[in-house]
Amino acid sequence: MASTEPPESRRHTVELVNSRGCSARISSVGAALLSLRVPDLAGELRDVVLGYESVQDYLEDPYYLGSVVGRYAGRIAQATFTLDGVRYQLNRNSAPHHLHGGSVGFSRHTWSLEQPSPSVAHLRRLSPDGEEGYPGALEVSVRYTLTDDNALRIEYQAVTDKPTVINLTNHAYFNLEGHAAGSIHDHRLQLFSDKVADLDEDAIPTGALVSLAGSPLDFTSPAAVGDRMGVDGIDHAWILAGGDTQLETPVACLEAPISGIRLEVFTDQTAVQVYTSNFLPQGLPGKNHCQYGPHQGICLETQRLPNSPNVVHFPSTELRPGQVYQSATVYRFSVSKS
Ligand code: GLA
Repeated sequence: MASTEPPESRRHTVELVNSRGCSARISSVGAALLSLRVPDLAGELRDVVLGYESVQDYLEDPYYLGSVVGRYAGRIAQATFTLDGVRYQLNRNSAPHHLHGGSVGFSRHTWSLEQPSPSVAHLRRLSPDGEEGYPGALEVSVRYTLTDDNALRIEYQAVTDKPTVINLTNHAYFNLEGHAAGSIHDHRLQLFSDKVADLDEDAIPTGALVSLAGSPLDFTSPAAVGDRMGVDGIDHAWILAGGDTQLETPVACLEAPISGIRLEVFTDQTAVQVYTSNFLPQGLPGKNHCQYGPHQGICLETQRLPNSPNVVHFPSTELRPGQVYQSATVYRFSVSKS
């Protein structure tokens, strides 16, 4: 299959709106969520995701601000995996490992972008056979819908022409006080799981699952992120039940004390990577000439577990010809007076 990469002239953005005045801007570059404006306690709209000033900035972004990450979100140990007896060598872009789809992963490509209705953006791209070392030409689509209950629904779909592995997510950094408000230390987080993937010294899942019950990272009751994350911050995958029924009950809740904005996350995925922007450099130039730094956003990346292609007992990330990869995540916003 030939590449369907749209030319530079096709780089553009669309704005989604719902009937309650919320809006979201989506870019063809990285299929990224550039902004998301939702009402606070006073009814004023706040943009609650970090982003760059220009669409060009996303082409080389090493921090994945708001982008769709793929073909495989998270780390793959030693940048290799074996499928059907064939060993594949991926780009060692986080040497000696592979991270977030490689040097030019999905977040750095220009997707085709259409807006079939005022509240919907539909993005597509063809990831060619061998891209960043992955087998199979993958046709992938992402659909963002801004619904009238102030939720952003993200639906992913993909098909392949050869057996491959896939793990897609969105890497939005949320700051519910507003994207330029600074630290997320006061945000209160609740996670409906106390189990995480155990990590080795390179942040690769070892295959063991460990309970955090009673430890500082036990967020089964809501707690202020800053009281619990220590100096290094949070960067762990919490284990979820997965499946369609999970789209009815939240897997995570995040709340900001001043704006009163509350975010509930729903997903059919089996893990959520909670990442408190530990590696954002101080002074990173952002939207409206603001500057970002460490711990100024929190990512709730719904996905399969990192390194699954090398851990047989983790939920499979294989996709075969004839199968359709499908996944949905909903970020729903409301306000809370507590
Ligand atoms: C993910 C990973 C982090 C880091 C960021 C990107 O959330 O878990 O370790 O790689 O992406 O900077």
